[in-house]
Amino acid sequence: MDMSPAELPSQPVAPAALTTPVRERPVGARSVRNLCFEPRAEVRVGLIGTGHRQLGLMKSLAPVEKARVVAITDPSPEATRTMVDRLVELGKEAPAVHDGENGVDELLARDDIDLVMIATPWNTHTPYAVQAMKAGKHVGIEVPAAVTLEDCWDLVDTSETTQRHCVILENCCYGRQELFALNLVRSGALGTLLHAECSYTHDLRAMLMNDQAWRRRSHIDHDGNLYPTHGLGPVASYFDINRGDRFTRIVSMGSPSAGLQEYRAKHVPEGDPRWDEEYQAADINTSLIQTEQGRSIVLQHQVIGPRPYDRRNQVVGTNGIFTDYPPRIFLEEDPVLGRINGGAGAREMGHEEYSEVEPYLDTWEHSLWGKDNEDARAAGGHGGMDYLMLHRLVQTMVNGEVPEMDVYDAAAWSAPAALSELSVNNGNVPVEFPDFTRGDWQESRIGIH
Ligand SMILES: NC(=O)c1ccc[n+]([C@@H]2O[C@H](COP(=O)([O-])OP(=O)(O)OC[C@H]3O[C@@H](n4cnc5c(N)ncnc54)[C@H](O)[C@@H]3O)[C@@H](O)[C@H]2O)c1
Repeated sequence: MDMSPAELPSQPVAPAALTTPVRERPVGARSVRNLCFEPRAEVRVGLIGTGHRQLGLMKSLAPVEKARVVAITDPSPEATRTMVDRLVELGKEAPAVHDGENGVDELLARDDIDLVMIATPWNTHTPYAVQAMKAGKHVGIEVPAAVTLEDCWDLVDTSETTQRHCVILENCCYGRQELFALNLVRSGALGTLLHAECSYTHDLRAMLMNDQAWRRRSHIDHDGNLYPTHGLGPVASYFDINRGDRFTRIVSMGSPSAGLQEYRAKHVPEGDPRWDEEYQAADINTSLIQTEQGRSIVLQHQVIGPRPYDRRNQVVGTNGIFTDYPPRIFLEEDPVLGRINGGAGAREMGHEEYSEVEPYLDTWEHSLWGKDNEDARAAGGHGGMDYLMLHRLVQTMVNGEVPEMDVYDAAAWSAPAALSELSVNNGNVPVEFPDFTRGDWQESRIGIH
């Protein structure tokens, strides 16, 4: 039966994606996408924030050649004392300490610092990074680099205006399995890349409730993916995000917010001020991201609830899949196991098993883990990836190379915090991803390699 257009049943209309303001490049600013560091004999480091993370980072920085911590600041004198002791224990010179109200200003006014490493509560990352770049320093910034979209743009604008680098310290990009997967992707063995899944799954209930009030605050004030970069950074490497592809849209949903309240009921005495807090962040936030090349990414945040640590770290192509926790691989045409035509039988029905990665290491183990793994393992720090990240950062600075992770990565990997919240708060609508490269994402260029 023919129907005229007026008689056709109406089609569901996809909700329009929300957009957010895109900033023009400031007058006089230039892209930093291929900007090399100035070569130097050593990297002189200043630390803003000397809490748990910075103590861990210093253990991993200690064996890195040509790096020296010259000055530190933190509002807590106990924290700076502990850091001085840590550096001395590690066989390093005691750094200058700038405590007191003007500690950050004093540290940034020094002319003997090349790199400022920031490991403070999230909402202070961007203001300190902006101030440091304006003071002429390169910056290594803990994750997430930024918590609002304005922060993301401020980082990009400041890096481009000052021509200083803002390197996101996303250690997970240097994990052994992540670098293995990167090699696998680069070799073409997965075929055409289609999809990835990643998460930050870490039971932080005790830490949030007992130790880090600043971090618990985000669960009161926000509902979205509060910590997107550990999962998304490595996937961005696999997909050459900002180097030939880019994130275009995100849509996000939350589960109920219940686990922190239940944890409090069991562990916090009545009358404690924490009973006045109302947590709104979903226990599990799930986002779906699309890329310009049409690839899809599932991104999850789940830090409230009893479960083993997991970043999923899965990448799927037309010839197979790599997935982590534990690491497993399945390839149809498989040069390592000698399957050339993909085989037949059970596999055609999808009933075959994953293989462990062991037989594949000779072919795809990343050289950083193959060659330098003794150093990495000895240095520790999340299994060695902290050491490798800092080793590569210092090497690129000494050699005068382009950093492997830059301000565009810092902005794009951190932005899902704000974008997922926008989606959740507006009825789970898709939200357009700002292009922080302002069009330069189409050019291939060096990243983690
Ligand atoms: N990449 C990783 O694997 C990893 C692991 C843990 C933490 N982190 C990140 O490191 C950062 C710090 O976390 P943490 O566990 O060390 O927290 P922490 O609470 O142990 O330490 C934060 C430090 O910052 C100081 N501080 C507080 N307010 C400040 C301010 N306004 N200015 C300067 N310093 C201030 C505190 O006194 C404290 O010493 C966070 O961004 C966190 O997300 C990253």
